[in-house]
Amino acid sequence: MRSDQVQPAGPAEEVLDPGATAVAHPNIALIKYWGKRDERLMIPYVDSLSMTLDVFPTTTTVRLRPTARADSVTLDGSPARGEARQRVVAFLDLVRQIAGRTEPAVVDTRNRVPTGAGLASSASGFAALALAGAAAYGLDLDPTALSRLARRGSVSAARSVFGGFAICHAGPGTGEAADLGSYAEPVPVADFDPALVIALVDAGPKAVSSRAAMRRTVETSPLYRSWATSSKADLSGMRAALRRGDLDAVGEIAERNALGMHATMLAARPAVRYLSPATVAVLDSVLRLRADGVPAYATMDAGPNVKVLCHRADAARVAGTVRDAAPGCAVVTARRGPGARLRTGAEQ
Ligand code: ADP
Ligand code: DP6
Ligand code: CO
Repeated sequence: MRSDQVQPAGPAEEVLDPGATAVAHPNIALIKYWGKRDERLMIPYVDSLSMTLDVFPTTTTVRLRPTARADSVTLDGSPARGEARQRVVAFLDLVRQIAGRTEPAVVDTRNRVPTGAGLASSASGFAALALAGAAAYGLDLDPTALSRLARRGSVSAARSVFGGFAICHAGPGTGEAADLGSYAEPVPVADFDPALVIALVDAGPKAVSSRAAMRRTVETSPLYRSWATSSKADLSGMRAALRRGDLDAVGEIAERNALGMHATMLAARPAVRYLSPATVAVLDSVLRLRADGVPAYATMDAGPNVKVLCHRADAARVAGTVRDAAPGCAVVTARRGPGARLRTGAEQ
């Protein structure tokens, strides 16, 4: 046989469908989502508002494999196990149900963001999986429908479908009405392009997942309701501050909203505490920056890492101060980044 002849694939070397590859970035909420009113449909109690980042993308490829007995899921080059695998399989089941398809899939996903560290890997992960999965199974979804779908994987993923700033609506009512009404959409902000200095005080996986922590908070924290109520005023203040491009107001509201969310967890029974001594050291350094006249404001998610919002012109100084406060910690400066997108064939 000539070397340029292509041998037909036998049963042992099945040719995989080329599938679809999507890239999505994590987002950091300025007004946090914390708590679900429907766990099955993944409906949040509160509206949330975030900035999608230009760092730490997730790249996910979904290929259909009709002859396989089950889905195969690889995360960062290793087979996904336990809960991580189960979440992807359950999500694929939903995509198949919507598409009226049954074929198993081969999923390969790679995070540049540390997984499960409070840096929103579930947001970039499920936004990329929603886009690649929908394309692989032939679903033609508009951005709203794609955001709704991503929400079923992780509520924060609904926002990573969009670039820049995005709001995720909690939606009205229950059941189908809630499902239809809970999705993210872009918040157009003309002249606001801040830096987000990320202090990676600990990139390891959290002991308690966001999902388990917020469930415990909703069920046991006496502070949860009042935080959820105050979050409504925070959101309208945030929208106005973004419209004005007012970094001080955006930062003040984001910081108090995040600290309030952590207060709800600290009051849960048993308490959920993600903030470490290094987190507090970075928070102290942010106060010192403000005392020195540098506008800088902190937000933290379900993990010890701190994100500091500041003007781009101050980012190098903020990064230096934060690094001094938590020696040895890596610091990455992000800006607003793009929405989820499919890779074209030429890029594969
Ligand atoms: P994080 O702060 O990183 O978002 P979460 O507790 O919300 O932490 O979610 C972490 C979980 O999200 C992982 O354990 C895994 O189940 C899922 N996840 C993370 N990255 C991906 C990915 N690329 N594809 C599919 N699922 C992912
Ligand atoms: C503190 O979206 O990760 O980062 O919906 O259960 O997957 P699930 O949780 P997830 O929770 C994010 C919580 C947060 C705040 C936020 O991103 O709004
Ligand atoms: Co998450």
